Amino acid sequence: MTAHMDRIAVRAGQPLSGTIRVAGATKNSGLKLMAAALLAPGKSVLRNVPPVADLDVMIEVMRAIGAPTEWTGPDELTIDASGELTPEAPYELVSKMRASINVLGPLLARCGEARVAMPGGDNIGSRKLDMHFRGLEQMGVEIEVRHGFIEARHNALGGARVVLEFPSVGATENLLTAAVLAKGRTVIENAAREPEITDLSDTLTRMGADITGAGTSTIEIEGVRDLVAVESEIMGDRIEAGTFLMACGIAGGDITLEGIRIEHLEMVVLKLEEMGMRVSPTPDGLWARSEGRLRSVDIATLPFPGFATDYMPLVVALLATCEGTAIVTENVFDSRFSFLDELNRMGADIRNEGRHAVIRGRARLSGAPVRALDVRAGAALVLAGLAADGETIVHEPHHVYRGYVDLVGKLRSVGADVRYLPD
Ligand code: EPU
Repeated sequence: MTAHMDRIAVRAGQPLSGTIRVAGATKNSGLKLMAAALLAPGKSVLRNVPPVADLDVMIEVMRAIGAPTEWTGPDELTIDASGELTPEAPYELVSKMRASINVLGPLLARCGEARVAMPGGDNIGSRKLDMHFRGLEQMGVEIEVRHGFIEARHNALGGARVVLEFPSVGATENLLTAAVLAKGRTVIENAAREPEITDLSDTLTRMGADITGAGTSTIEIEGVRDLVAVESEIMGDRIEAGTFLMACGIAGGDITLEGIRIEHLEMVVLKLEEMGMRVSPTPDGLWARSEGRLRSVDIATLPFPGFATDYMPLVVALLATCEGTAIVTENVFDSRFSFLDELNRMGADIRNEGRHAVIRGRARLSGAPVRALDVRAGAALVLAGLAADGETIVHEPHHVYRGYVDLVGKLRSVGADVRYLPD
């Protein structure tokens, strides 16, 4: 991380105005497509992958496994999985980024075994892997967790009917990427329906996989013998898009977002409209306008097509400035509310009881030094600063850089008073 990006300073200013090109969903889709590239002996090309910080970690994971990964153009990566792979993901990398766990399915399918460091908990909850393990075991994989590593192997990967207890994104991805090369038919019931699953499935299908039902709760996969490397362009980042929508809700103004599909943001748009914002589709994205103070609404996070948990900290920042009182319920992660104390340092009036937060809106917040605790919570503090008197300084913004490329520059481009501060 360069020194001049050590903190982010924000001041309230004029309403936002202008157009933002939304980046590719590197963190929530690109990293998964990189892992999937391990399934095909050949050179896969991924486009529209902006270099968020987590990508550097995944590039190292790929290299450690023996799949050299290089930048071959702006936002374009080439992954060479032609050679013999070393099916091991080391602790130093997995501990930096949980999505490394996505190599488990592809490595089992391609190499018959995998040794992946067990990721720990993080700032948003304990994040278990039991559903990944149970599903893979049903497909014939033996799994042991020993000395901090997941050690998994099989003699033959076979199709199975797996019912997930909860539509976990990661478990659906690992099972899908294992099943494409398994012998026979796999059915994943209660599968995650997130657009990123469809993005992954579309790429796997172009690689030669036989998949039906991605994007619904039942995904059926007929295993094939081998897959080929392909070129893919990853989807626009719906969470980044949601971040700019909430920024517009807080600062007011009107913005156009390009490079995104509005149907990926359906529930966010419904909620923002209920709050008084106007949103309409454009050929390549959407247009949004916010005038005056928005009204509070209650929100409960749920798997897609529900209101995504990743928007939760961002919408809490918005609700902290709305007219009225809102109850926000977090149903996906067990401790995603630690950032509320940081917002309260900025004069927000938020109380947390278990899975619920009660937010009494305030017309103005008060600029303060605060700390980013995770990627979305960090972005939420930047947004809150847009409605705060004086200056807000967000410390430890490296969390933000894990999922956003130049959030500051993009907000500035629509008129926000945001800048990087040297130490
Ligand atoms: N869970 C289990 N057992 C499992 C798997 C999951 O109990 O075997 C629980 C988790 O502990 C959690 C819930 O199920 O409470 C949902 O977890 P899920 O597996 O769906 O999440 P994930 O795959 O670990 C991805 C995103 C998250 C996003 C969630 C939910 C990436 C790299 N991460 O995580 O993104 O919040 O899906 O949509 O794709 C973010 O972008 O800020 C972020 C955290």
